[in-house]
Amino acid sequence: MTTTAAPGWTTAPPPIPGVAPSPAAQPPSATQPLPATQPSPTTQPSPTAVYEAALRSVDGRLWVRHPDGRRDRLPVHCWRGGLAPGDVSLLRRCAGPTLDIGCGPGRLAAALAAGGVPSLGIDVAPFAVRLARRAGATALCRDVFDPLPGQGRWSTLVLADGNIGIGGDPTRLLTRAAALLGPAGRVLVELEPDPAPPGPLLVRLEGADGRVSRPFPWSFVGPANIHDHATAAGLELAELWGGHGRRFAALALARRRRQVLSGRSCWWASRLCVCWGLVGRSGAPGSLPPAAGRWAQRSR
Ligand SMILES: C[S@@+](CC[C@H](N)C(=O)[O-])C[C@H]1O[C@@H](n2cnc3c(N)ncnc32)[C@H](O)[C@@H]1O
Repeated sequence: MTTTAAPGWTTAPPPIPGVAPSPAAQPPSATQPLPATQPSPTTQPSPTAVYEAALRSVDGRLWVRHPDGRRDRLPVHCWRGGLAPGDVSLLRRCAGPTLDIGCGPGRLAAALAAGGVPSLGIDVAPFAVRLARRAGATALCRDVFDPLPGQGRWSTLVLADGNIGIGGDPTRLLTRAAALLGPAGRVLVELEPDPAPPGPLLVRLEGADGRVSRPFPWSFVGPANIHDHATAAGLELAELWGGHGRRFAALALARRRRQVLSGRSCWWASRLCVCWGLVGRSGAPGSLPPAAGRWAQRSR
C-alpha cells in the first residue's frame, strides 16, 4: 500500500454542503490517535468494505491509519485512473503470462491486456474486480493464497502499489509467489521509499464518511529489507530500479530452486520425447498404450 502523504490531505475532510456531520461521522485527524475504545471488531466494517466505498465515491478519499496514530492518504484516484508515472517501467518488465496480485481497478492488468501481454488480475474486492474487467482486464475475485490458475507456470508476478504488504508477512507472500512462478519467472515488487520499521503492523482504513475498518495486518517493505524476505522465500534479488519517486525490485527463483524445477522440466521433456518417438515409430497415436495415446491426442 504505497501512500501519499500530501500535506493538504492529512486533515479531516471538509464537510459536505448541506449536511451537518455528527462528530462521530468525521474521521479522526492525521495526528490524533484513534480513541482507545473502538467498537468491537465484529461491528467494524471490513477493510474491503471501506476500500470499495472509496472506489465507488466521486473523489475516492481513503486513508490508512497507522498504529502510532499517523494517517496517510491512499492514492485511490491513481488506482482508478490511467497509468501513473513509473508504471511503464514495471509494464516493460512484464514478459510472458503475467499475474497482477491485488490488481484493484486494474490499470496495470488492463494496460498489459491492451499491449497483448497475456495477463490476469486477482483481487479480494469484488467491486475492484468489476472495475478491472470494465477497464479491459481479465480478472478474478480471488485471494492470493487461494488455489489459482497457472500455479508454477507464471512468467511474471506483479506486486505493485505496496502490495508486498498483503497479509502482513512478506516472507509468506513471497513464498506463495515463488510457488506460482515458472522456473524462469520473476516477481516485480514495488517498495516503500521510506518504509516503517520492519514487521507486521495492524493498520485500519478510514473513509471520508467516517467509517473506520477493523484492524488488519500489513507490512511496509523498503529496499533495505527486501533482500532478507526474498532469501527466506527461496528467491534472489535480480534487479533494483527506481524513478518518479517510486522504487521497485525484480526477484527471481534462487539458482538451486531454478535448477530443480528446470531438472523436472527436463525429465518431463525427456518423457515427452519418448512418447513422441513412439508416435513417430508407430505412425498413429491410436497404436500407443491407451494412456499415452490419450495424451498424444490431447496435445495435438
Ligand atoms: C494497495 S491496493 C492496490 C491497488 C492496485 N494495485 C491498483 O492498481 O489499483 C491493495 C489491493 O490488494 C487487494 N488485496 C488485499 N488483500 C488481498 C489478498 N489476500 N489477495 C488478493 N488481493 C488482495 C485489495 O483489495 C486492494 O485492491
